[in-house]
Amino acid sequence: MALTLPAARPARPHFACGPCAKHPGWQLQTLKDTPVGRSHRSKVAKARLKLAIDLTREVLQIPRNYRIGIIPGSDTGAVETALWSLLGARGVDVFAWESFSQGWVSDIVDHLKLGNTRAFVADYGELPDLSRANFDNDVVFAWNGTTSGVRVPNADWIAADRKGLTICDATSAAFAQRLDWDKLDATTLSWQKALGGEAAHGMLILSPRAVERLATYAPPWPLPKLFRLTEGGKLIEAIFVGQTINTPSLICVEDYVGALNWGKSLGGLDALIARADANSKRLEDWVARTHWVDFLASDPKIRSNTSLCLKITDPAIATLPITEQAIFAQALTGLLEAERVAFDIGSYRDAPPGIRIWCGATVETSDIEALTPWLDFAFAKTKGDFAKAA
Ligand SMILES: Cc1ncc(COP(=O)(O)O)c(C=O)c1O
Repeated sequence: MALTLPAARPARPHFACGPCAKHPGWQLQTLKDTPVGRSHRSKVAKARLKLAIDLTREVLQIPRNYRIGIIPGSDTGAVETALWSLLGARGVDVFAWESFSQGWVSDIVDHLKLGNTRAFVADYGELPDLSRANFDNDVVFAWNGTTSGVRVPNADWIAADRKGLTICDATSAAFAQRLDWDKLDATTLSWQKALGGEAAHGMLILSPRAVERLATYAPPWPLPKLFRLTEGGKLIEAIFVGQTINTPSLICVEDYVGALNWGKSLGGLDALIARADANSKRLEDWVARTHWVDFLASDPKIRSNTSLCLKITDPAIATLPITEQAIFAQALTGLLEAERVAFDIGSYRDAPPGIRIWCGATVETSDIEALTPWLDFAFAKTKGDFAKAA
């Protein structure tokens, strides 16, 4: 039977998990007032950097006594600044359940070589047993595992009276999931994720207890200048009002400020979360009625509302060797890219083969809606092509 192309296409085919879709209404014109060609230490540039920090605090509802700094190297830079600056004072419990958090395990165990470390690692689609965390230790985790589509359900498992610090990579959770600041001591994100900003700049959000650690503990290893948050044993306060460690891109700053203002104009955090929830619900409804696909995360309580990771369950495909499943998924996602219906929706390179669709607030629900018939079309077409080639 000949397959017919679905009638409607998503207005914007941008469903990548980072850099994520620009916010609706974004135009290059938004950047026209950037103070280009100016020093980032000029009054005008410092004001824009400070505004980026202030708006981040406002939209994410970060307590006034938390420090927020712009850090080089995107989310990775912010996480590694935290790991290299804070760890070593206590034992470490690190929880990982997908590729990026496994990278933090490797940083801690293989590179910082911290002996007193316990790593709790779960397979794609699962959470490790969070109840095993010992909060006398520092506890490292990613709030939302972007490459498996698994998130922590909340912060109830984190002790309010902990002695150690929590270090949380929240890059694919912030602006889409509620972060419990009382339970988070060092939190990171990148502008390229949920608000559709640009890469290369990260943010590090420090609780008063994290600041106290910085002021009372000096790690025994050398710290590159890019990671240095203290000088002479004191916090460099200037970093947390926008005087960055090295030179930022003022175009990226302006773009991020625009995205934050967009988030504010919608109604702030609640509205951003509601949009991600509506998008992910739409995709979930489709998965529920579709026979060939399912979530990597079978438990809805730990399922992400931003990075939705799907596996192909149709027996004709799921029983193929893993390399052929990967070829099938690449053919399916490649077809959608060629049709300009969906860009960059293949699963992450280290994750099980499948499909990954970003459902954060900058994506329109109508585009998720328009995408699903195309997913069915691409599956049927690719399956037919594979059968013919066999
Ligand atoms: C959970 C998580 N951590 C870290 C990163 C790395 O982010 P960046 O490339 O912004 O450093 C990503 C990127 O997707 C991520 O999803």
